[in-house]
Amino acid sequence: MEVLRKKVKELLETKAGEEVLAKGWVRTKRGNKEIAFIALNDGSTIKNIQIVVDKNEQTEGILAKISTGACIGVQGQLVESVGSGQAVEIKAETITVYGTCDPMRYPLQKKDTSFEYLRSVAHMRPRTNTFGAILRLRSQMAYAIHDYFHKKGFVYLHTPLITASDCEGAGQMFAVTTLDLENVPKNKKGEVDYSKDFFGKQTSLTVSGQLEGELGATALGEIYTFGPTFRAENSNTPRHLAEFWMIEPEMAFYDIKDNMDLAEDFIKYLVKYALDNCRDDIQFLNDRYDNELVARLEGVVNTEFVRLEYTEGIRILEEAVKNGVKFEYPVSWGIDLQSEHERYLVESHFKKPVILTGYPKEIKAFYMKQNPDGKTVRAMDVLFPKIGEIIGGSEREADLGKLEARIDELKMSRKNLEWYIDTRRFGSCPHSGFGLGFERLLLFITGMSNIRDVIPFPRTPKNAEY
Ligand code: 4AD
Ligand code: MG
Repeated sequence: MEVLRKKVKELLETKAGEEVLAKGWVRTKRGNKEIAFIALNDGSTIKNIQIVVDKNEQTEGILAKISTGACIGVQGQLVESVGSGQAVEIKAETITVYGTCDPMRYPLQKKDTSFEYLRSVAHMRPRTNTFGAILRLRSQMAYAIHDYFHKKGFVYLHTPLITASDCEGAGQMFAVTTLDLENVPKNKKGEVDYSKDFFGKQTSLTVSGQLEGELGATALGEIYTFGPTFRAENSNTPRHLAEFWMIEPEMAFYDIKDNMDLAEDFIKYLVKYALDNCRDDIQFLNDRYDNELVARLEGVVNTEFVRLEYTEGIRILEEAVKNGVKFEYPVSWGIDLQSEHERYLVESHFKKPVILTGYPKEIKAFYMKQNPDGKTVRAMDVLFPKIGEIIGGSEREADLGKLEARIDELKMSRKNLEWYIDTRRFGSCPHSGFGLGFERLLLFITGMSNIRDVIPFPRTPKNAEY
């Protein structure tokens, strides 16, 4: 009789007494003269299923081929387990070895299990318990994000990855070109002749889908994007990637307060979703690395975020400096807050997440709604413990004249922005939005401290392996 394969997660919830088939990778093999125990994992759960093999002439030959990392299929009876730690185990009848795994060469066989080492074998690290847990959480969170917005009636808008405009205006874009770099065509002025390039103009990988998101919001009402974004910022920090994923909702008729309400509700939903639906993986990370993880997650779900003006935030930081707190970067009105400042506000002063608003316009992007004071804009950054900025957003400048004036003031090229300015020419509406860094969210949810450890294949300066 043919037996259908069941995943380990399902097997562990199945009652003893069935003939079953499991397939997966060997975590450990141990035993004595009479029997061998194999811990098998197939990625469906952090837990392994135990395989019990009676040793005899026939099985000895197969067991000799099985070591940590090998891929096998096991058919047998699901029986109640006598050992502690699991309710059921498989009494093996037939074992198929799909792939052996040379213990001398298997990269995960090594004693070194540090995160640094695992980053150097990132093609193999999903096989570890820790990265299995992180990658399942990542997938679950992506699902929860779509779920959240679909329930609210937001339209999922696919914005382009190749673009000719610099949304954030920070000039940190990766060029996209098919020009021959050994022989770049030049115009009469000696500049690169992009008319000869694939798109007939200079193009880059996008740093944000927001500008196109605004086109969507001013037609469909409420949209969100969720995709990869690229930044060529040369910052080798535990919080920056050159390729990261961002979720960007954009909503017509939302003012800055509605925007803050949505951001707070959204994050709380995601953290609660993780606690409710990914408990085994979170508990594993909590017990192994960070005893306060679960408490920190529960704390966020049950806490009202602080809402604070930038000016007031600076006052608190200046006060702290007066009282002897040492920062690497000096504090004064007008500075772009460093992560140390953000974390002081969140971790030491308020001890809860903070939404900071009313930033100086000089340190924020051109599209933000200007306040009547002429100095500040309706920006909002959501600051989190251990991470600093997790969300950046704003109400948008809906006034055509003010937007154009700001673009000119910043000496931005309007050539590639006329389509964007059209949203303010034709049926302009008040609107707001924000961007949540997906990996920053995952840092918080997993308790990991390096962003390279919450994405399967990290892209950072001098690192584009796999
Ligand atoms: O604050 P940012 O630059 O905002 C924008 O891009 C807006 N266009 C968003 C919007 O209003 N629609 O980036 C948003 C978030 C940050 O708060 C941070 O969480 C994350 O994206 N982020 C990064 N994450 C990883 N690596 C990087 N290099 C990141 N840069 C930004
Ligand atoms: Mg920002």
